[in-house]
Amino acid sequence: MSTLWSDHIAGLTPYVPGEQARIPNLLKLNTNENPYGPSPKAIEAMRAMLDDDLRLYPDYKAQALRQAIAKRYRLAADQVFLGNGSDEVLAHIFNALFRRGDRALWLPDVTYSFYRTYCRFYDVPHRLIPLADDFTLRVEDYTGPVDQEPAGVIFANPNAPTGCALGLDAIAAIAEARPDCAVVVDEAYVDFGAESAASLIGRFPNLMVVHTLSKSRSLAGLRVGYALASSELIDGLLRVKDSFNSYPLDRIAMAGAQASIEDEAWFDRTRRAVIGARDHLAQNLRVLGFTVLPSQANFVFARHRSEDATVIAQRLRDQGILVRHFQAPRIDQYLRITVGTPEQCARLCDTLKTVLST
Ligand SMILES: Cc1ncc(COP(=O)(O)O)c(C=O)c1O
Repeated sequence: MSTLWSDHIAGLTPYVPGEQARIPNLLKLNTNENPYGPSPKAIEAMRAMLDDDLRLYPDYKAQALRQAIAKRYRLAADQVFLGNGSDEVLAHIFNALFRRGDRALWLPDVTYSFYRTYCRFYDVPHRLIPLADDFTLRVEDYTGPVDQEPAGVIFANPNAPTGCALGLDAIAAIAEARPDCAVVVDEAYVDFGAESAASLIGRFPNLMVVHTLSKSRSLAGLRVGYALASSELIDGLLRVKDSFNSYPLDRIAMAGAQASIEDEAWFDRTRRAVIGARDHLAQNLRVLGFTVLPSQANFVFARHRSEDATVIAQRLRDQGILVRHFQAPRIDQYLRITVGTPEQCARLCDTLKTVLST
């Protein structure tokens, strides 16, 4: 605390990212990074940008990248918004779309914890809607009549940290039931088995979909995320961006992101490998006494039948393996484990065998 700070800073509870540890022989299964590298074409495109043109500002409208993303999702470039990672896109969404007087933002009680950080940061009143006992989202909780319409609705699909996914009919029902606010679907993990709601954007001017290049495109270090929606919603985000930082993406990031988006073959090969390893990992964890939630993401969410989750996480860490454990209501006995290569998953399971029997 400092008396030199602005008034609201002392009351903030910042988000705590997963550990980026420096330990020997580290196996990092705690932040849902992709075990395979990015598209070689993306690396090549970024190398090609290292020249004298770096003295010039990048295109603040990011037209070429917006066009490439729009093409992939059969949308127009003015229906695409870019940010420095999807966390920044989400921050602008909270600022631009969810600050609507005393109306509350609706979100699940178990979901990406950054949403609540943004609520506090931007003074957005919110209502936590409990997931069902099996951690699925009950659509009827979002579609019924209410005294006061929400300021917005946000959920991750597949959800984090559970990995459970909703179908498109459910998302359409929510967007249809709440036409007076933005319904935002954070699809950070959608490419690992769920269906994108991007195809519904033409039907629902209030629907926004958020993607990241950090997971299925394996570019977490580059910091690129984007939102897809009607141009009306995108315009709101652009007003915030251009009041904050006109150049969130540098020339290198834009070139790498575009080449990555255009390399469908690499994308498909690597995500299929992750999906295959995930299903195998889930099976092996069940044999070891874990209950594993059905996952459509690049991680699994699992609880052991007898051993404490904090203890398991610590013992794995002692062996150089990081997994994510949240000290949060309802999920404090679960571990979120990123899917690695088959070899990494085998090391995890072999280590668990020793850890669980001590
Ligand atoms: C659900 C969800 N949304 C958004 C993000 C942010 O991703 P990034 O800022 O790397 O694009 C994450 C990161 O783990 C996430 O789990």
